[in-house]
Amino acid sequence: MTVNGDFDWNHLIQEQRVHREVYTNPELFGIEMTKLYGGLWTYLCHESEIPDAGSFRRSRLGLREVIVSRDKQGDIHALFNRCSHRAASVCSEQAGSTARFVCPYHGWTYGLNGDLLAVPYADGYGDGFDKSTRHLPRVPRVESFHGFIFGTLNMAMPTLTDYLGLAGDVLNDFINRAPNGKLELSAGAYRSTYHGNWKLAWDNAADMYHVFFAHRSLVEMTRSRYPEGDTGATYAARPDQSPIYSYYLGQGHTYLHHRPGMGPSIFERARPAPGSELWADSLRRSMGEEAAADMLERVPGQGMNLNIFPNLMIIASQVQVVEPVSFDRTQLTWYATTMTDAPLEANVLRMRIAEDFPNFGEVDDLEMFERCWQGLQIPEAEWIDCSRGSDVPLAEIIAENGAHKAHGTLEHALRGYLQAYKHYMQQDMKLQAG
Ligand code: FES
Ligand SMILES: [Fe+2]
Repeated sequence: MTVNGDFDWNHLIQEQRVHREVYTNPELFGIEMTKLYGGLWTYLCHESEIPDAGSFRRSRLGLREVIVSRDKQGDIHALFNRCSHRAASVCSEQAGSTARFVCPYHGWTYGLNGDLLAVPYADGYGDGFDKSTRHLPRVPRVESFHGFIFGTLNMAMPTLTDYLGLAGDVLNDFINRAPNGKLELSAGAYRSTYHGNWKLAWDNAADMYHVFFAHRSLVEMTRSRYPEGDTGATYAARPDQSPIYSYYLGQGHTYLHHRPGMGPSIFERARPAPGSELWADSLRRSMGEEAAADMLERVPGQGMNLNIFPNLMIIASQVQVVEPVSFDRTQLTWYATTMTDAPLEANVLRMRIAEDFPNFGEVDDLEMFERCWQGLQIPEAEWIDCSRGSDVPLAEIIAENGAHKAHGTLEHALRGYLQAYKHYMQQDMKLQAG
């Protein structure tokens, strides 16, 4: 299948402004869901979510339903949730463990690797019926980056590591903050849906500009708990002068690096969570001061937003997945991560800290996305402005692929991802199922 759109991209996405149609056009959304979510390497799930032989978990490549499974040999497969008889979905559980997938319509039965094992009343098919050609359609390329599983239908894509590029280095750092580099996504998730296009979340992903305004109540609350103005001051005082940088990393990936603005201890910078002192003291008693201090620094994750185009965001200690539902509706799911080789107290504390932002901050962002969506319903007001920082020198060009670093309140990273988006949307892509 070859996908291409008939849009005037040089008009729709300019250097300093974007046309509203990029967000509001349902036909364009259909192309995005085919090309970007499936043509590019797209995050499916984490290996820890399918830990054993027989484990499976449903996911999506855009609007395509996928089952990610682990077979008896431990190999991972991404299968389309689509019976090869008459297309019914074969799996309705979100996740679980099974020996086979049985289609509820006429009972065709598939193995964990998608092979068709049996059809009822087989005599009804003649000798020409070849079961080996009737497997569940497969995502032909599936690769794992240290536990993060991605898939693509595009045989022309470079390797996953090449596609991630500099974003892979940042993701690696995030993973290696956990002892022995082992993380799990089995502690549950926080899910929210907003009325608006998925790219509104992407536009926000490396944006330090909005923090003091959109998250004002959170900033004020934090300041009131720390009268000296220590924690939260990074965002409250002069955010445009704080050492927080946003990066465009190439291939559409962006990165907001808060860490340099967070002082010597990232744990001390975390807002207080229920039971913090108790759990931290317990760790100090059981591990000793020095080891506990090291562990506590790992607990809140990393001071960062890493955004891997088109659907994976790493926020502090959490994994957020962007799931477009339609051109005007988007689901965001925050998966808490736990550290496999860390004491229980450290992970409990990590959970408590992780609950903070989705509840007290994410709601602000969701409201802003919906406000933008309201504004985008005015056809006569055509343009979104993304010019901030255009006349201000970049902090640094960091790689030949156009990757760059700028102050976190500027919109260089936003423009970088939009240009990558524009490039992908114009690219011929040949997509196939295996
Ligand atoms: S549609 Fe699956 S067995 Fe008929
Ligand atoms: Fe925000």
